[in-house]
Amino acid sequence: MKDHLVIFDTTLRDGEQSPGASMTKEEKLRVARQLERMRVDVIEAGFAAASPGDFDAIRSIARIIKGSTVCSLARSNENDIRRAGEAITPAARGRIHTFIATSPIHMEKKLRMTPDQVVEAAVRAVHWAREYTDDVEFSAEDAVRSEVDFLCRVFAAAIEAGATTINVPDTVGYSVPSVWGDLIRILIERVPGADRVVWSTHCHNDLGMAVANSLSAVLAGARQVECTINGLGERAGNASLEEVVMAVRTRGDIFPVQTGIDTTQIVPASKLVSQITGYPVQPNKAVVGANAFAHESGIHQDGVLKHRETYEIMRAEDVGWAQNKLVLGKHSGRNAFKSRLSALGVVLESEEALNAAFARFKELADKKHEIFDEDLQALVSDEEVAPAGEYYKLVYSRVCSETGETPAADVTLMVDGTERKASGMGSGPVDATFTAIESIVASGAQLLLYSVNAITTGTDAQGEVTVRLAKGGRIVNGNGADTDIVIASAKAYLNALNKLQFPDRVDPQGDV
Ligand code: KIV
Ligand code: ZN
Repeated sequence: MKDHLVIFDTTLRDGEQSPGASMTKEEKLRVARQLERMRVDVIEAGFAAASPGDFDAIRSIARIIKGSTVCSLARSNENDIRRAGEAITPAARGRIHTFIATSPIHMEKKLRMTPDQVVEAAVRAVHWAREYTDDVEFSAEDAVRSEVDFLCRVFAAAIEAGATTINVPDTVGYSVPSVWGDLIRILIERVPGADRVVWSTHCHNDLGMAVANSLSAVLAGARQVECTINGLGERAGNASLEEVVMAVRTRGDIFPVQTGIDTTQIVPASKLVSQITGYPVQPNKAVVGANAFAHESGIHQDGVLKHRETYEIMRAEDVGWAQNKLVLGKHSGRNAFKSRLSALGVVLESEEALNAAFARFKELADKKHEIFDEDLQALVSDEEVAPAGEYYKLVYSRVCSETGETPAADVTLMVDGTERKASGMGSGPVDATFTAIESIVASGAQLLLYSVNAITTGTDAQGEVTVRLAKGGRIVNGNGADTDIVIASAKAYLNALNKLQFPDRVDPQGDV
């Protein structure tokens, strides 16, 4: 029997700390549902004390997620821990993850605390956290640059105070696999009470070694890996979930552990996170990159056709790469639509949302005869990101783009219930459309990113556009999908403007 390796996903916390990757509550709920579907053990849903929006999102996730433990991060102070405790209260299984820095540089320069004070704060934090849950994780931030004797001391004190998981982070992505594995082994050997806790590792990717370091920790005895979808995270990111999970599974001959992950949900999770955050996945990214299973050279193609395992160590379908599947067409009814959505794990919260999504499906089916699963997902996310009651809504758009002429656009928007029209010129049809929109809304927002991806293959595919806007210190992403990429672009731009318009939108019932 192999040991269970706990997969702790921090896409919604460390991942969300990537510049521009912040998500709305609705987006976080969608990611959390996908993580649950993938059977992630622990979802770190956010940092409750960071803002009322973070608190609200964690609490909403705690209410709906039943299959995974829901966790909130907290610094080692009373307010943070009480906020985290309140946020996870509705969870079927809730965890508080508290941390304090233990390296000389962090203790002296950032915390301005002595080592004794740090140990006391860690112990107090774990005690407070245990008032809310029996599942308490303690992390020594910047463990990689901490003295081993001091790490042993602080971890022993945290275990004695009631911590059940001890996490060893390489906060700055500085370690290398052999050194990281040795550190974990030494800690497990030397820390009193080590056998009563789960040892965990949390590695950043500054030197490109987050996954290798995490796997080395597993070989040394760690039984929890903290990771993110697509390796999203602070700076160069965190260890990527898909790489850790598939390494352990593919090299079962080396790793004495197994995960509970449904690997067929990996690619859908990757696409969802990429679409919501606007962070594209590089084509040659392991497991989830578009080329991860593509064979270009004749020799490779010939080998794979004769016997797949000549060049493939994993099966594309095992990680969720499916042939685009024709699922519905223009004659499909509401029930078929609803049951296909539920097979995809999409739950629309109300009849109105289902009706609106079905109406959009019919519109799409008129333009595009073959509707694939990916189209349905984009259509539903359009519904979720643009719920009724939005401040700006696209009513009409027209562009004129000819060789040798400056492109021009006319748009009509509904602005808070009032129809407004404008025209604009630009260097291309999308630029002209954005100029026209701006002449109505005058947001003054700065465009940080504009990206277009084809959702499926073929020239009738829907284009999925991500727009990232910055204004007043806030950065938001907007998404839109349509067979016409100018319309998709207008939708994405308006979606981002709507998010800027409603910074702290909460559900009327404060519930999900
Ligand atoms: O990188 C880090 O040290 C962290 C801790 C909060 C675990 O994210
Ligand atoms: Zn981190």
